[in-house]
Amino acid sequence: MTSVWQPRPDLWSLDPAVLHLNHGSWGAVPLAAQREAARLRARSEANPAAWFRALPERVAAARTALARWAGADEAGFALVPNVSTGVTVALAAVDVPAGGRIVVTSHRYGAVRFAAERFAALRGASVVEVPVPLTSSADEVVALVSPAVSGADVVLLDQITSATASVVPVARLVDVCRSAGVPVIVDGAHGPGLIEAPVPEGADFWAGNFHKWACAPRGTAGLVVAPRWRSRTLPPAVSWSEHGTLQQRFDWQATADYVPWLAAPVALDVLAELDWPAARASVSGLVASGAELVAKAIGGDVPELAAPAPTMRLVGLPPSIRIDDKPAEEALRVRIARDAGAEVNVTVHDGRAFLRLSAHAYTGPRDFELLAARLPAVL
Ligand SMILES: Cc1ncc(COP(=O)(O)O)c(C=O)c1O
Repeated sequence: MTSVWQPRPDLWSLDPAVLHLNHGSWGAVPLAAQREAARLRARSEANPAAWFRALPERVAAARTALARWAGADEAGFALVPNVSTGVTVALAAVDVPAGGRIVVTSHRYGAVRFAAERFAALRGASVVEVPVPLTSSADEVVALVSPAVSGADVVLLDQITSATASVVPVARLVDVCRSAGVPVIVDGAHGPGLIEAPVPEGADFWAGNFHKWACAPRGTAGLVVAPRWRSRTLPPAVSWSEHGTLQQRFDWQATADYVPWLAAPVALDVLAELDWPAARASVSGLVASGAELVAKAIGGDVPELAAPAPTMRLVGLPPSIRIDDKPAEEALRVRIARDAGAEVNVTVHDGRAFLRLSAHAYTGPRDFELLAARLPAVL
């Protein structure tokens, strides 16, 4: 592969013996943010009482930095540990009557569908899943989802899908929901770091992980709540800030480890140092050609998605490789990790199995070349 991209693995602590091509699942924290977290943790253990006394101010400063970086309305931006918590909290806040409908698409994250099912069961409502074919254009996605919006009590949309690594036309779908007067929750797990201005205008709720593409320590996510929902959006733990503002309620989640939130701004500094929007464009080109190389090597294909995620690509596995359930997905991930020395994600959509390859600023052409060389003997 030819590439002018200069990868920066020196900024991370990733094991060089492994091909790290699954950033999309768990992220990877740069050394500078790891060191800041270690420094803060040491400080907290030097005097826990003083640490917790000073915490509210520190958390507020970190929250403000993350909200500004994401271009979010600061008054509606609350910190949560992850998108799963953000979506759960949002679903708990909206009204879904008995017999009502929570609408999702067939690209939704599996655990987010479970959250929708939990609230549907609690309220005697149902989850309606709109099938959206893999290679649908933006117009087709809007045309397929729109009819389900009118009968919905709440719509849950992905910003970038997990199993299918696609950018969803969220702005258009949010407009459809708003015109129909139906609340919309946006699962922006992959938004921060992949989409400039990731918080969609007009969404009732948006939850985004800073611990994926923005490389913050794990446990760092934002929940943005539109004004009309703020007083009734409640964190999972009832604690001392129960009667405070939205931010105060979420800033203080009882005795817990707040270090990831406090160290997160340092990860954003690393992205700034990398000139991440420009670097991301190079990484995007790298993953596109890397996926083609891997597909050719294994007799697979790169599906023609209308809007692939900037730094993730699907490689369709040959039809001889069948994956019927979650254990089979995991078994293939483990086999590739063990026998090819590579971390990749394995996903299934509409009965077809894919490798989902991710790249970040530490990824270089060699990662894909080695994967392409090793995989045929492993599959
Ligand atoms: C689309 C999507 N939603 C939600 C999640 C859940 O994220 P978390 O485990 O940080 O809550 C993920 C994780 O990969 C995801 O890809």
